[in-house]
Amino acid sequence: MTNLNGKKILLIICGGIAAYKSLEVIRLLKKHGSFVKTILTNNAKNFVTPLSVASLSQEKVYTDLFNSDNESEMDHISLSRWADLILIAPATANTISKISFGLSDDLASTVVFASDKKIFIAPAMNIRMWEHQSNKNNLKKLIDFGHEIIGPEIGEMACGEYGMGKMSEPETIINYIKNYFKKLENNKKFKALVTAGPTHEYIDPVRFITNKSSGKQGYEIAKSLSQNGFDTTLISGPVNLNPVKSINLIKVESADEMLEATLNNLPTDVAIFSAAVGDFKVKSSKKEKIKKNKISQLSLEKNTDILGHISNHNSLRPKLVVGFAAETNSLKKNSLEKLSEKNCDWIIANDISENDIGFDSDFNKVSIYYKNHSEENLPKMKKSILANEIVNRIISQLN
Ligand code: CTP
Repeated sequence: MTNLNGKKILLIICGGIAAYKSLEVIRLLKKHGSFVKTILTNNAKNFVTPLSVASLSQEKVYTDLFNSDNESEMDHISLSRWADLILIAPATANTISKISFGLSDDLASTVVFASDKKIFIAPAMNIRMWEHQSNKNNLKKLIDFGHEIIGPEIGEMACGEYGMGKMSEPETIINYIKNYFKKLENNKKFKALVTAGPTHEYIDPVRFITNKSSGKQGYEIAKSLSQNGFDTTLISGPVNLNPVKSINLIKVESADEMLEATLNNLPTDVAIFSAAVGDFKVKSSKKEKIKKNKISQLSLEKNTDILGHISNHNSLRPKLVVGFAAETNSLKKNSLEKLSEKNCDWIIANDISENDIGFDSDFNKVSIYYKNHSEENLPKMKKSILANEIVNRIISQLN
């Protein structure tokens, strides 16, 4: 038995000549013990029949967005909930375009739009369409959404041309999916903790001291960890974000609460400290609102450095401790100082003086400084993509 045994795969077949290969994809998935439900787009029905798909998958085949037999049955929601993974094979240029723009005018595109499951896309199209700038832009968006693209491959096409655009072979697609589940299985044994967002250090019930931080990078890292199979806890200061359901979210406000929540959720294999923790708290914050003419001076005291405290603690220290450094100047020097002072394994440093990256932006540009004195300077990229880059490095390190 392989790791595909018992897995629920939702296969979307689009209208292209490669659709005939999808029958083999279904056959192989069934052979490996998977459950397969299938959606055919309107055009797919010109290439494969619902009857042949139903016979191979031994399941009902779905084609329509609205189900006249049962009005309360919302297939686009129930199919997405049912699936462990969604595979679109073949994915035509049209469907790729629809998904990239968030169109939902048929069952296939609506399921994808309504889903938070992992989506694999195996494109198949003529080489000119594959190389068209419009298709390239659409694919880039799909990759940014976190979808994975399988192939296509170079070869002879049904239209008589030769080149890139041939759908990957069913065996290749199956191996891709097998590897994905293998990675999830393997990472299941790892526990991860992420801190994110700012903290609020209250002066009185209505006033607080805080740091500038949207929490986006930390949330993306937690999401990527969770989607890669890690048992993930996210300890978050006040932000306007919602994490994916699989994450154990703990909401805190102050640095003291963040420290307590962190201590309560150790041990873990890896901890990533991306929060912009307030360095100071007010010595005696008031329970009642202070009248403005009564505030003359604020007495502050230092908060515990959560990262420093955990990473210098023999028994609590995770195997891999990753800190962040937000710097306006002397990025490398300050980051290396933090790496050693806070006893981190890695410091991920971003230059917050640069426009269009860091705070509130969806983009980031970081350098990673490692304990072994090596460093990596990554190009500007979406925070979601950077999160995957960081998580891939974490997986390699832990293994
Ligand atoms: N950090 C923490 N607890 C604190 C302060 C910082 O865990 N009380 C962590 C941050 O989450 C980050 C790293 O320490 O991973 C560096 O934070 P940063 O704000 O860049 O540096 P500070 O240590 O606060 O130092 P400074 O403000 O002087 O740059």
